[in-house]
Amino acid sequence: MSAPQAQVQRSDFDQVMVPNYSPAAFIPVRGQGSRVWDQSGRELIDFAGGIAVNSLGHAHPALVEALTEQANKIWHVSNVFTNEPALRLAKKLIDATFAERVFFANSGAEANEAALKLARRYAHDVYGPEKYEIISMVNSFHGRTLFTVNVGGQAKYSDGFGPKVEGITHIPFNDLDALKAAISARTCAVIIEPVQGESGVLPADQAYLEGVRKLCDENNALLIFDEVQSGFGRTGYLYAYQHYGVNPDILSSAKSLGGGFPIGAMLTTAKIAEHLVVGTHGTTYGGNPLACAVSGAAFDVINTPEVLAGVKAKHERFKARLEKIGAEYGIFTQVRGLGLLIGAVLSDAWKGKAKDVLNAAEKEAVMVLQAGPDVVRFAPSLVIADADIDEGLDRFERAVASLTRG
Ligand SMILES: Cc1ncc(COP(=O)(O)O)c(C=O)c1O
Repeated sequence: MSAPQAQVQRSDFDQVMVPNYSPAAFIPVRGQGSRVWDQSGRELIDFAGGIAVNSLGHAHPALVEALTEQANKIWHVSNVFTNEPALRLAKKLIDATFAERVFFANSGAEANEAALKLARRYAHDVYGPEKYEIISMVNSFHGRTLFTVNVGGQAKYSDGFGPKVEGITHIPFNDLDALKAAISARTCAVIIEPVQGESGVLPADQAYLEGVRKLCDENNALLIFDEVQSGFGRTGYLYAYQHYGVNPDILSSAKSLGGGFPIGAMLTTAKIAEHLVVGTHGTTYGGNPLACAVSGAAFDVINTPEVLAGVKAKHERFKARLEKIGAEYGIFTQVRGLGLLIGAVLSDAWKGKAKDVLNAAEKEAVMVLQAGPDVVRFAPSLVIADADIDEGLDRFERAVASLTRG
C-alpha cells in the first residue's frame, strides 16, 4: 500500500512552482479516451491532446498494456546497454520512413538539438569548418534549449539569455525567393516545420517544399524537417513529408510519438548518421525501455490505413463545423491545417483574443489550444470518436455564442 497523498490544489502551483507557466484553474486527475475529469469530478472533452501529444487519447488500452508489461520487466538501462523496445521501435520507424538510422531522445527540443548538431558535424567533417550556417523560418518553433530557441524564429523566446548562437539566419516561411537569396555554400542545413504549429497552424506550400529540397541539394545543405508536432499520424500520414512527397535528410519526432510518454527521436540516413561517432552526442534516458515500449504500441495502432484515413475524415468533420461556427458568429476567417492539427484563424474583430476563446471553451467543458494570439488550435486524439467531436463542438459553439454575445 502506498502512503496517503497530500491534498493539493491549483493555488499551490504559485507557491511551489517556478512561475514560467500559467496553467488553467482546474487540475485534471483522470482521463479516458477523449474525456478528462478534474478534481471536482467535472468532465471535459479534450481537443487539446496535451498539446498534440496524446495521439490515442487517455488511458488507451494498448498503451496501458505496453507500459504495464514493460514496467514489470525493466525500466531503464542507460546507453551503456541497448534494449529490446528501443531496437524494435527503431526498426518500425525505419521500415515506415525514408530513414535508416534513429537516435532516441526525451523531447522535441532534444530531438532537434541532435538534428542540428548532426547537421553541423556532418558539414564540418565533409566540407570543412566554414559550412555551419543554419537557415530557419521566421515564427518557427523548435523547442526551448538555448540552441533551439536561437534556431526558432521568435525573438520573445531567445532574447535575454545572453549571447545568441552564431550562424543562424531567419527568413520568411513559404517564400522560396527568400531562401534563394539566403542559401549559400556556407549553409549546412535548412530547418522547416512542414506545418508551422505553434505560430498558427500554417502548412507549407507544395511547390515551396519541392523548391526547398532542390535548393538544399544544389548547395549541399541538409534539409531538416521538424515533425515534432506534425508527425506520427497527426496529418493523416505517418509523417507530413509523406503527404508532400518531399524527403528530408533528417527528421525530428516527439509529441504524438509517445502518446503521452516522454520520448523524442531523430531519424536520418546511414550516410549522415555515421558522423555521430561514439562519444559525439548522447543522453542518459534516450531509448528508455518504458518510452519505447509505449511508442511501439502507439505505432502499431496509428500506422494503419484505418487510423490514418480516420484522421483525414475527422479533419473534414472538424473543418465543416468550425467553418459554420466561424461564419455564423463572425469569429473565424479561415480553418486550416492538415489532419488533426487544425487552426481556426480569428477574424479582425477577435484578433489577439485566442486566450479568451480558450477560457470560454473551458467554461463549457471543452479543452482547446491556441497557436499564437490569433489562432485557436485543435489537436485531439487521432482516434477521437465522432460523437465526441460533435459533442465537443456543440460545447465549443456554446462558448463562442456566449463570448460573441458578450
Ligand atoms: C515543431 C516543434 N518543434 C519542437 C517542439 C519542442 O518540443 P518539446 O516541447 O517536446 O521540447 C515543439 C513543441 O511545441 C514543436 O511544436
